[in-house]
Amino acid sequence: MVKEIEYQEHFFPGTRQELLNKLKQSVKEKRYRHILGVEQTAISLAEINQVDLEKASVAGLVHDYAKERTTAEFKAAIQQYQLDSDLLNWGNFIWHGVVGAEIIRDELKITDPEILNAVRRHTVGAVKMTKLDKLIYVADFIEPSRDFPDVEFARSLAFADLDQAVRFETKHTLEYLVNSSQTIYPPAIDTYNQWVVKK
Ligand SMILES: [Fe+2]
Ligand SMILES: [Fe+2]
Repeated sequence: MVKEIEYQEHFFPGTRQELLNKLKQSVKEKRYRHILGVEQTAISLAEINQVDLEKASVAGLVHDYAKERTTAEFKAAIQQYQLDSDLLNWGNFIWHGVVGAEIIRDELKITDPEILNAVRRHTVGAVKMTKLDKLIYVADFIEPSRDFPDVEFARSLAFADLDQAVRFETKHTLEYLVNSSQTIYPPAIDTYNQWVVKK
């Protein structure tokens, strides 16, 4: 269990419990459990990768904060925050990270740029990723309630070599999208080219 903490002001202006209360109002029970699993995993990965534990906790907790907003809400947010209008061509899978970061800044008063970037990058990764970005990206993939054929391998990889886990996850996600004939968001291809293609 994570002990009750008052976060440093610039991470979140309040306690962990206050943040949990806001999350409970924003997502359904199943996603709330996923979020707690991501936080727990992110903290464990932060410990072995010399990342600030509070930062990992906040980023893990908020990464899917906006996931259950409607299409109309996301489209309004893209206009309101004056984000790239190309985003209108995509959907929840992309929006909840990139647009979600702006919603988190606005509604939760989280302004730390590293936390917001980790939220932006958690779905499709990025060419350049900080340690915090990587551990949120990977924690989202391997948290305890995840269940897919290679999950145990992905878990052991994550705790042995975070970069290799980013590589494995990126390849796995792209394979899934290709195999199910889904559109691929171009930045996801950039991530693949950087992390998976053998140089
Ligand atoms: Fe997500
Ligand atoms: Fe998630």
